[in-house]
Amino acid sequence: MSIPQNPDTPIEDPIEAPTVPVNPYLSPERMARRKFINQLTIGLGALGAVVTAFPVAAYILAPLFKETPESWQAVGPVDQYIIGNTVQVYFDDPSPLPWAGVTAKTAAWLRRTGDLEFTAYAVNCTHLGCPVSWLEGARLFMCPCHGGVYYEDGTVAGGPPPAALNKYPIRIVNRRVEVKAIGVPLPTE
Ligand code: FES
Repeated sequence: MSIPQNPDTPIEDPIEAPTVPVNPYLSPERMARRKFINQLTIGLGALGAVVTAFPVAAYILAPLFKETPESWQAVGPVDQYIIGNTVQVYFDDPSPLPWAGVTAKTAAWLRRTGDLEFTAYAVNCTHLGCPVSWLEGARLFMCPCHGGVYYEDGTVAGGPPPAALNKYPIRIVNRRVEVKAIGVPLPTE
């Protein structure tokens, strides 16, 4: 229901909406240009990140694609070894780093099992890689780090090692024993 107006009451002017000043920075042309510059900045930033990251990623990942060189390394004449004995032998790492120093040498436990038969066990424990020792009296390989124990054939006797000791390939050339120096020795089984 409408309220009757007093004819003596002056009619007020309707309130005019305030005029909003036009922001020249929000014109469609400026907005389009700003959007383009934003996209260009993002694109150039992404390109710069890729260009910067590529050499770093290539440096880190290159070893994964580089073939590890293999070489046969002589570790002495056959007759130097007594049948049944297990001794440590040293040979050059197949891919030493330039600054490796004495660590460019690696080792294996070598056992003569026959006239021309030998087995070379990797010295590194299959748990976390600590060097294992050979205990002649017990005829066991022992790992000092977490108590891993291996039988004389390299299989696990106890402790945390998940697998048997790895082995290096062996060959006899002119009655000299040669160990194939490979980056990662072969699993026993
Ligand atoms: Fe040999 Fe852990 S590293 S038992």
